[in-house]
Amino acid sequence: MRINTYISKQELAKEFTKWLAEYIIATSEQLHIALSGGSTPKMIFEALAEEYLDKIDWSLVQFYWGDERCVPPTDEDSNYGMTAELLLSKIPIPPKNINRIRGEDHPVTEAGRYGNLLEDKLSLADKIPRFDLVILGMGDDGHTASIFPHEIPLWESEDNCVVAEHPVSGQKRISISGKVINNAKTVVFLVSGAGKSAKVREILKCEGEYLDYPATLVAPTSGNLIWFLDKDAAQEL
Ligand code: 6PG
Repeated sequence: MRINTYISKQELAKEFTKWLAEYIIATSEQLHIALSGGSTPKMIFEALAEEYLDKIDWSLVQFYWGDERCVPPTDEDSNYGMTAELLLSKIPIPPKNINRIRGEDHPVTEAGRYGNLLEDKLSLADKIPRFDLVILGMGDDGHTASIFPHEIPLWESEDNCVVAEHPVSGQKRISISGKVINNAKTVVFLVSGAGKSAKVREILKCEGEYLDYPATLVAPTSGNLIWFLDKDAAQEL
């Protein structure tokens, strides 16, 4: 595990964008990348579109989502919709390289479809779809992707994708499961803000109720786990 700490959310975004671009540029094969939703990635998507528009061979990048809200792609809550607005609409990426979760469809049906799609498009390791890179955020409650503490057993699902529910809004979500996340070649956590500092400390120091947080369970078998933190999120370390 590596922990990179940056002076600000802006610096975190700048450095992670550079890291991601160099990671993509360094490869000559198709890269299968699962994106996270929420607000943290927004600056990264904007920076990728602005600074790496013509520096990356986007035909080599296959985008997926680690989770999606069960809303239409045009909904302001849609992770795909946010990514399309800030990144996908601005880069020459072939439509077939965009593997969105269909939030508008029936959650159980779509979780099954997406789980099958991962098996069809990704290489398998131990019969489990293997992403090259999974990018994750972490909520103030220690959730990651869309697996929340109140539904932590979903992490252990035998399925590649699960249907989850936001603990406050009740909004249905579709999320990749723990076995897919931990099968990735590399997993990156992007975490910013003081609101997350207590959970970051508990998880990284194995303190308090850390075992109750899905983010604690992120432990790729490859050993390649990198935390990108801003100073506020890392202030209790
Ligand atoms: C989502 C995410 C979720 C997110 C965290 C952090 O769909 O909301 O995938 O896991 O990464 O909630 O969100 P922020 O980046 O907004 O803090």
